[in-house]
Amino acid sequence: MINADANPQPLCLTATGPLTGDVTVPGDKSISHRALMLGALAVGETRVTGLLEGEDVLATAAAMRAMGADITRVGGGLDGGEWRIHGVGVGGLLQPATALDMGNSGTSTRLLMGLVASHPITATFTGDASLSGRPMGRVITPLQMMGAAITATPGPGNRQTLPLTLAGACPAIALRYTLPVASAQVKSAILLAGLNTPGETVVIEPIPTRDHSERMLAGFGAQLSVSESPAGRIITIRGEAELTPQTIVVPGDPSSAAFPMVAALIVPGSDVIIRNVGINPTRAGLITVLQAMGGDIALLNERIVGGEPVADLHVKHCALTGIEVPPDGAPSMIDEYPVLFVAAAFASGRTVMRGLEELRVKESDRIAVMAEGLKACGVTCEELEDGLIVEGRGGDAVPGGATINARLDHRIAMSFAVLGLNARQPVTIDDARPIATSFPTFVPMMEQLGATAHR
Ligand code: S3P
Repeated sequence: MINADANPQPLCLTATGPLTGDVTVPGDKSISHRALMLGALAVGETRVTGLLEGEDVLATAAAMRAMGADITRVGGGLDGGEWRIHGVGVGGLLQPATALDMGNSGTSTRLLMGLVASHPITATFTGDASLSGRPMGRVITPLQMMGAAITATPGPGNRQTLPLTLAGACPAIALRYTLPVASAQVKSAILLAGLNTPGETVVIEPIPTRDHSERMLAGFGAQLSVSESPAGRIITIRGEAELTPQTIVVPGDPSSAAFPMVAALIVPGSDVIIRNVGINPTRAGLITVLQAMGGDIALLNERIVGGEPVADLHVKHCALTGIEVPPDGAPSMIDEYPVLFVAAAFASGRTVMRGLEELRVKESDRIAVMAEGLKACGVTCEELEDGLIVEGRGGDAVPGGATINARLDHRIAMSFAVLGLNARQPVTIDDARPIATSFPTFVPMMEQLGATAHR
């Protein structure tokens, strides 16, 4: 777990010329978590390649091992390994001997809470300073309705936070639940609880969110159906399910690809290819928005890999124009807003981004932290309760010259590292260690494109 004060590792990226080359980004974080969890619930051997070996996903692997799954990495190489998972079967999770350390990972926490909620075991969840401030009430409420007994730590503003202890119900009670927030984590927690709940558990989502859980649950053989209605998407899962082991190829993470994509757009002369990027429509909002701003992004070699659409992205530096970003697309690019704010700083005119309340409860308050850092780097912006308005500089370099407090937030750190690539004075990130939660190869990949890292 990263301690905010001990041995911070500052980072500054600069570019003296165009970024060029052909790179890949690590596996999709959301898909990687789900592959480990479902593999751990299938009887037999699941094999996974392309798994993101970042700290968040490794926290999920450790937790699934602590609850009885056998998980090993076979083969060498930085990204050449295969993961083999021998699961315990739905209903077979064991009582963990010690607290489950979730590190920085909200996805691990909320999805695993769902799994534990319908097993006859008790688990305590702990996390780092960032995760311990994040709201868990959104998952606690539906899981209590399914019968789980949960004791959480009171946080600021009536928030229910970690550490928390959850005693599962067995049998759990099937639930029909309309999501009050557009959250794939809440949806997934309920569906995962539904796996070991007799009868049909139903989640209604008025606004669509990423659908990796639905795709992968169906792939593992769960009885899951999705229908559209005036109230939104209705997802029904039938418990008690039996899952069949799978061979999974995890595509590159579009949320990680966002950083080299924006870097190539803002550094003059750049011409970059990013291979094997997931373009699931519930995740690909940033590409559409950057293209609407004039971004030169071509999708090459579109294909389906492991049930998910994938493409190679060809991105070239070009002039961007500020737009009003449609708020209804926010869930399809929720993790990409910090780096979109950076792209907006290089557009001509203003970019208005609203409907982003959820950004305030991510690894940091991403609206406030980005606004503060952009202003410190000489970018004019206005913080709104639910978004940000950025006054673009028409492609001019930003003044820069600031040190950014990234608040243990990997995406804040990477966003400002990218901003620094076209700044007159260096932009320094106070502590780059959180980048390892989602993108351990970020710095070497940027160096491969021609950037220089100053540590
Ligand atoms: C995720 C869902 C999103 C996203 C997070 C990963 C997932 O969170 O921000 O990084 O894997 O389900 P919410 O569901 O809370 O919006």
